[in-house]
Order: sequence, then structure tokens, then C-alpha cells
Amino acid sequence: MFSTLLLLGSTLLSAFVQGYSNPGACSGACWAHDPSIIQRASDGKYFKFNTGAGIYIYKADAIEGPWTQEGVALASGSSIDLAGNTDLWAPDVHLVDGIYYMYYAVSTSGSQDSAIGLATSSTMEVGSWTDKGSIGVTSSSSKAYNAIDPNLIQVGSVNLLNFGSFWHDIYQVELNSAGTKTAGSSSYNIEYNSTGTSPCEGSYMFYNDPYYYLLWSSGICCGYDTSKPAQGYEYKIMMCRSKHSTTGFVDKNGDACTANGGSILLESHGTTYGPGGQGVYDDTTNGLTLYYHYADTAVGLADADYLFGWNVLTWSNEWPAV
Ligand SMILES: *[C@@H]1O[C@H](CO)[C@@H](O)[C@H](O)[C@H]1NC(C)=O
Repeated sequence: MFSTLLLLGSTLLSAFVQGYSNPGACSGACWAHDPSIIQRASDGKYFKFNTGAGIYIYKADAIEGPWTQEGVALASGSSIDLAGNTDLWAPDVHLVDGIYYMYYAVSTSGSQDSAIGLATSSTMEVGSWTDKGSIGVTSSSSKAYNAIDPNLIQVGSVNLLNFGSFWHDIYQVELNSAGTKTAGSSSYNIEYNSTGTSPCEGSYMFYNDPYYYLLWSSGICCGYDTSKPAQGYEYKIMMCRSKHSTTGFVDKNGDACTANGGSILLESHGTTYGPGGQGVYDDTTNGLTLYYHYADTAVGLADADYLFGWNVLTWSNEWPAV
């Protein structure tokens, strides 16, 4: 009895200690959906890219803004010949050998007819982006996965692309040394939740010695104003880690990410609802910083109300926290 009470007490205490920080401040154009954040190498300027149209471009001098919307990257959409090629999803922008690469997805809601494309630029400004079309990561109903939500990680000279999904969740495939096409080897599953509707997508991998951290969004992303998910089924940000970039991801309990494992990094709290579509960048002053979109229940639940959130990561036992 006594030990049960002690256990209950420590469970309550750890629930209390695990409270989340509110999203960092944002001013100006703060709408966000599957944002990608990068600081330009030449001048430290902050760029934010969002799902929608030909990928919206925003600029600021600081992560908290004020953000200005500059225009879109690919005004006439993608050359990929699939439905959805003028409403591009989930940009992922990185500096690759001195050129900015933007991976994006072409798909439509609820469909596996999807492909991942690439656009490149030397400055990231409006008017500077060139579409390179499909990188060879595609899906249709014959595939286990859905080719959406790309995320590049460079491991030494190897380019790895994480992507997916719903439909058997998160996959990874090696790209060529230029990062422009698949390298020829098959893709493999790195995260899978077999329960319910396998609602995992929007992965992002980053390295913080000695681990590779795999983040993903679990749950329902959108449409909260018209059909609100049951409590706990809205987006939340999950994580696993491994000392290898390609395999062996486990959660805080040591459970495999490919077998329903995963620890929560950030979930609904206070007026913050459904955080997800996340990534991590290394801020030149703040260090490793998580960014995401969320709905503020005091503002509105519609996709058009989503806001840009960010938090500098804190660390405990080599796990990140917000
Ligand atoms: C797996 O998915 C179910 C919903 O289908 C969810 O309740 C559960 O939390 C998920 N597990 C992990 C580790 O994300």
C-alpha cells in the first residue's frame, strides 16, 4: 500500500514536472503549416517556408519576427504530373554544397498518389527558385507507404531522405551524392505504429552527439474546426533516438520505434492545441530550436488560424524537452 502511494506520488510529480513551455513569441506574418526554418548562411537572415500554393516564403531578422510574407517559391507549381501539383506540401529546406535545396511533396488529402520533388536556389529569395521535379520517391496504392513529408539529413557524405506517410508510417531512402535523385537502393521503414490508423507523418531527423533524433507528428493534422478529433488524437510531436542514422530508433523505455514505440516531445497544453509539422534548426545564438505549427484555442481551430511555434530545446539524460 505504502509503496503504491509512493509510486502514485512520484507519477503525479513527474506529470507535474513535465509541463511544457508555451510557444515562443511571434509577430508579423505568423500563420504556419508544416513550417521549415533556416537561417541564410551569408547574413543570418531567417527564412520560413509553409505548405500551400507554390510554397510561401517568409523572412525575418529574428525567430520571433516580425515576419513578412514575401511571395511564393514556385509560382506555377511543380512540374510533377500529379493531382495537387499547384498546392505543394511540407517544404524541407537545407543548404547542400552551397545551394539551398527545398524538398516538397505533391499529393492530395487521403490519396497515395504522391511524389517528392526538389527545387533549388542560391539565395532563397522570391524569384530565385528553380523546380527540378521528382527525385524518384513516389507512391501509389501498390506501395506500403505514402511519398509525402520529405526530410533530408546529411550524414558525412551520405544523403538520407526520411519521408511519409500514414500507410505504414515513416520510411527512409538513400539519395545520390548530389541529393537530387534516389541512389538506387530500396527504402526501408524506420517508424511504425500498428495500432489504430497508423497516424504518423511529418518526420524530422537531427543529430546531437552521440544520437540521431527522429521526430514525427502523430494524430490528425487538420480540420479541427469542422471535425475535432477525440481528445489525444490531435497532432502531437513524438520522438525516438539511435546512435545510427538508418536503424535502431528506440523511445525512453527502450521500445523500438518500428514496433509502436515513441515518447512524447510536445502535445496539447494550455491553449496550445495539436502541435506538429515540426522541425529542428541550429540557431546561431540559441542553439538547437524546435519549431512547429499549432492552433491556439483562444484564437481559432481552423487550418487558416494555425500559428508558428518555437522553443529552444532543453536536455535531460540526452533527451530533448520543451
Ligand atoms: C499509436 O497510435 C495510437 C492511435 O492510433 C495512439 O493512441 C498511440 O499513442 C500511438 N503510439 C505512439 C507511441 O505514438
